[in-house]
Amino acid sequence: MDVRKVVIPVAGWGTRSLPATKNIPKEMLPIFKKPVVQYVVEEAQASGIDTVVLVTSQNKTIIEDHFDHNLSLESLLERQGKTEKLKEIRDVANMVNIIAVRQKVQLGLGHAVLCAREVCKDEPFAVMVGDDLMFGQKPGIQQLLDVAKAENMAVVGVIEVPESKVDRYGIIDGEEYGSGVFRVRSLVEKPQVGHAPSRLAIVGRYVLTPEIFEYLEKLTPGVGGELQLTDALQGLASRRRLLAVKLHGQRFDAGDWVEYLTANIYFALHDEDLHDDLVRRIQELVPSSGK
Ligand code: G1P
Repeated sequence: MDVRKVVIPVAGWGTRSLPATKNIPKEMLPIFKKPVVQYVVEEAQASGIDTVVLVTSQNKTIIEDHFDHNLSLESLLERQGKTEKLKEIRDVANMVNIIAVRQKVQLGLGHAVLCAREVCKDEPFAVMVGDDLMFGQKPGIQQLLDVAKAENMAVVGVIEVPESKVDRYGIIDGEEYGSGVFRVRSLVEKPQVGHAPSRLAIVGRYVLTPEIFEYLEKLTPGVGGELQLTDALQGLASRRRLLAVKLHGQRFDAGDWVEYLTANIYFALHDEDLHDDLVRRIQELVPSSGK
């Protein structure tokens, strides 16, 4: 299985992050020095993916621009001799090929993936949700690709969540057949607390085979009145064609303010120049944090 493309749905409004996202796409909010979406694209690139399919909507073109050259800025940095910054800016433009498809009405994650059908055609492809960030020794999507290639099957990434939070996620029911690998029997999108089949929650990482489009086409509105990718995945699960992999690493949901701010601190703490000053300032703000 050769996976070269990743679909990243970026058409949503980002209402959880208002008012910051009134005129800026949520995917462009910075986490430390980079916009959220750059971390997602870097994870894809580090996993051998070279083409990003952005499923986009009005007012989102700055996401495409971010991964393109900005010639005026580049020549300014060149004139100023700021070679390090110039390299950083050019590297972002050279990272991946970008293809944009429009999701003209936002009918849900399943619908967003269906919008990429003409581009993905009959190849397997990855899907990464633009505000789920994963960091660890091995890129999150690479962990799925390894299993998808070995088993020649579609794979979703899962993490264990507390029972009180199952209603925020798609939850799988499966049988473990390898260490951290499950054959998915069924899935349920955002079950009520107390009614979930497990605590294994789908994070925004998927490797899909083109047969998913058959099920996406037939979707009817599910939870929240949306066309849910989770419901289409049930089609694959019923044919015993879906695995789930427990992901290793740190995960941040950039649409949640605590998680978003923690991700900023996480990256800033990894910056040698900032680390000590940042720790000192946090300890001043929260005196008990040093104990
Ligand atoms: C989507 C999926 C859900 C998944 C979640 C992960 O939900 O529908 O199955 O668990 O992403 O972030 P959303 O967060 O878009 O409501």
